[in-house]
Amino acid sequence: MSLAIQAEGLVKRFGETVALNGVDLRVPTGKVVGVLGPNGAGKTTAVRILATLLQPDSGHATVGGYDVVRDPVRVRSLIGLTGQYASVDEDLSGNENLVLIGRLLGLSRPAAKARAAGLLEQFELTEAAGRAAKTYSGGMRRRLDLAASLVGHPQVLYLDEPTTGLDPHARNEVWAVIRRLVADGATVLLTTQYLDEADQLADSITVIDHGRVVAEGRADELKRRVGGQTMLVRPTALSDMDIVERILADLTGVNPVRDNDTGLLTAPVSDPVLLSTMVRKLDDAGITADELALRLPSLDEVFLALTGKPAEEVAV
Ligand SMILES: Nc1ncnc2c1ncn2[C@@H]1O[C@H](COP(=O)(O)OP(=O)(O)O)[C@@H](O)[C@H]1O
Ligand SMILES: [Mg+2]
Repeated sequence: MSLAIQAEGLVKRFGETVALNGVDLRVPTGKVVGVLGPNGAGKTTAVRILATLLQPDSGHATVGGYDVVRDPVRVRSLIGLTGQYASVDEDLSGNENLVLIGRLLGLSRPAAKARAAGLLEQFELTEAAGRAAKTYSGGMRRRLDLAASLVGHPQVLYLDEPTTGLDPHARNEVWAVIRRLVADGATVLLTTQYLDEADQLADSITVIDHGRVVAEGRADELKRRVGGQTMLVRPTALSDMDIVERILADLTGVNPVRDNDTGLLTAPVSDPVLLSTMVRKLDDAGITADELALRLPSLDEVFLALTGKPAEEVAV
């Protein structure tokens, strides 16, 4: 497995603040790694170091095999950066912005125009191409940011909180664009405060909190790491809730959570095999269920378990 990004022991202090406290990060070529963490966790600091915009106090990192401190020019030629500090000029049109960036990157005028037209098409901005960027909706603006970061055909793309502050509709638009990039084989480092975003887009997730990696793995591995699954039973007849509650309590040794409105009973289980036991017991009792399942904890529950506090509480 070749690594597009490899960082070891990154430390960065700003005065008293320890923004990064020894972060390791690995992004395999062609994969999407999500860096998930609340506001202030150190995500942007890590991205800025990997983009050569900031030097680490200690630790080292390579992008495409080049050291970010010793070979910044080479590194910059490999990367595209979009996010919290996007470089789009509000007064220029979408097309003008992209042509300008192409020219800055050394493309001829015709080549820059062709590149801009292709990207505007790819990001569904062709109709708005002649309008000033300041007239764009939030979702269009992020799509233009993304297009701008791609002008130079980067091998590795950094997306720093690409959907923060967007409404759900605009977020879906941006997700669709990112999914297409990923399907085309892009290598992406994606930072996010949103558990569902990391879950949806990333092959693997590195969870950071207070400048430290607190967990790492695929979404399903992280969910499993937190342990136990939850059994859900919804008897077809509400009148069966009492008896199902007793069966579930006997089976799990825990008092189930009971929702009289939805008719749903839930209890944590240590062993998935209990699901088939439950099926048998319901059958023996002559009870049918509309819903009988095991589920892994949500990523929100995972975050709570891994960091000791819910993601919402610390996110701004
Ligand atoms: N240029 C800076 N000067 C001082 N403190 C900073 C600077 N950049 C970041 N920090 C601090 O470092 C910590 C991590 O910030 P940041 O990397 O921006 O987090 P995130 O992107 O995860 O929200 C925060 O406490 C932030 O206030
Ligand atoms: Mg940030």
